[in-house]
Amino acid sequence: MSSRIRSLLHKKLLQKTGLADLPIFQHLSLKLDKTTGSFSYEIPLRTPSYDLRSQSDLLSSLIIEDDLFSRINLTRRKNNELLSIALKRDSFVKQILEKNSHQVTPPDITDDNKKIVIDFSSPNIAKPFHVGHLRSTIIGNYISNLNTYLKKNVIKLNYLGDWGTQLGFVMLGVDLLAIPEDKMREDPIKKLYEAYVHANKLSENDPEVLERAREIFQRLEKGEGLQRWESFKNITVEELQKIYQRIGVTFDEYHWESSYNFSRIKGVIDRMETLELLKVDEQGRRVVAISDQRNLPIIKSDGSTLYVTRDVAAAIDRMRKYNFDSMYYVVESGQHDHFNNLVNILERMGYESSRKLHHVKFGRISGMSTRRGTAVFLKDFLDEARDAMREQQKINARTKVDLNSEDGSSDILGISAVVVHDLKQRRTKDYKFSWDVALDIKGETGVKLQYTHCRLSGIEENSGATLPSECNPQLLTEPIINDLVSAISQFDEAVVLSYQTLESCYLAKYLFNLSHTVNKTIQEIRVKGESSDIAAQRLLLYHSTRNVLNTGMKLLGLKPLNKM
Ligand code: ARG
Repeated sequence: MSSRIRSLLHKKLLQKTGLADLPIFQHLSLKLDKTTGSFSYEIPLRTPSYDLRSQSDLLSSLIIEDDLFSRINLTRRKNNELLSIALKRDSFVKQILEKNSHQVTPPDITDDNKKIVIDFSSPNIAKPFHVGHLRSTIIGNYISNLNTYLKKNVIKLNYLGDWGTQLGFVMLGVDLLAIPEDKMREDPIKKLYEAYVHANKLSENDPEVLERAREIFQRLEKGEGLQRWESFKNITVEELQKIYQRIGVTFDEYHWESSYNFSRIKGVIDRMETLELLKVDEQGRRVVAISDQRNLPIIKSDGSTLYVTRDVAAAIDRMRKYNFDSMYYVVESGQHDHFNNLVNILERMGYESSRKLHHVKFGRISGMSTRRGTAVFLKDFLDEARDAMREQQKINARTKVDLNSEDGSSDILGISAVVVHDLKQRRTKDYKFSWDVALDIKGETGVKLQYTHCRLSGIEENSGATLPSECNPQLLTEPIINDLVSAISQFDEAVVLSYQTLESCYLAKYLFNLSHTVNKTIQEIRVKGESSDIAAQRLLLYHSTRNVLNTGMKLLGLKPLNKM
């Protein structure tokens, strides 16, 4: 809402003054005076470049033209001035409820159509999909949703780690354990991991095993025996896709780290050589001097590549292919040096686009375990969340869940709990996972958001009222309705703030507040049993609230439920 007002005022002021650098519209916060029930927008003015008095006069004259604004006030606070624009209460309520009754439209952001590549999730084959990957998946999916909502052109990449010395252990482990093909297909992620752990453990006491694993990897590096590895990769991806589908995440493209290992790397190394960026260190590795004290290996002494080398090649490939405006790497904070190095190298290779690369880092989660023990596998973790929700639903006699349904609401609720527990955190902070907190229907949780959404859907379904074509604010005068309208109107702000900071917690907090306010309103303001005019207007109030909640929940990556 306020972005509409912002641009309206801005346009009108521009027309009258011709001043292009209007400094006033950075922050526009809505104030609700509870005693008078009046709304106003407050705008702190930074030292403006022209006469404030005349600006105020000017705005006053504009106000007559618009049905929404009623009065304007300018007060001085220390060095700042505060402009407050009083709104006509009824017009405001009408605008907010009508605007959100059909479809929630995104706020205008001037940089529409920007092309944004988002590299997220990106687990490693034959290593467990650990909590770092879970956070990357949840946060990356959120950032993708948000950018898509704000009309950016988003390309979602999953960069699968399928290369590295661990590979030799995996292949050897599969042979030593003689894992049959059908068992492998049943649960490839676990089976390949078991193979890895088995061989790795043996190698600790048996240098011969270590040697054999190395040999296998060296052969793979020469391109021998790749076919078998390919088949392991394919079945792992199938399994991963099932998990992504379960949590509602999709990708535009899957890329393989190994594809930057062979042919594509050569041009990159040649360019580094031409620019004289590479030198050989005492261990025979080819390195780039990152700083006076630090050399970063690019090619090992046996000629093989490193993680960073493959990322350099991948970034160059993506620059050509997508010509993006920004590329986000959603990866845990621990890899910050890696991404700094990556940007540093690309810069020195002369790629201006290196400025467009951003590491979207995040903190660690601790305490993530299942009743069966430490959660290594995401699937077990999600199963645990689902089972816990199912138990809660069984206890709660009021719920009408179909307990026989395999992928019923329990699974969606469990996933919502996990996702929101993550997205309500500040991204870069470490946090401790707690089942009690995550699953609490009364707390600030995904379960609470789902519960509220179900409640609103229930009102729409059972009220017997019909949605009116227009809002009549005169029938919506109870003070608590002002609170709810105020909460609805602040959705755009929360979205924009979250977009600017890449912090999902602003949107999560907003949705908790909206849920809290509407649940309070529902207790006081009933639809059923009221005269048809009043019932219709109240239905409109709840319908608009549900639309906003629904839009916000989908941005977080949740599947809003109508019944639980
Ligand atoms: N597979 C890597 C890991 O698990 C993350 C990859 C992130 N993306 C990238 N382009 N480096 O650590």
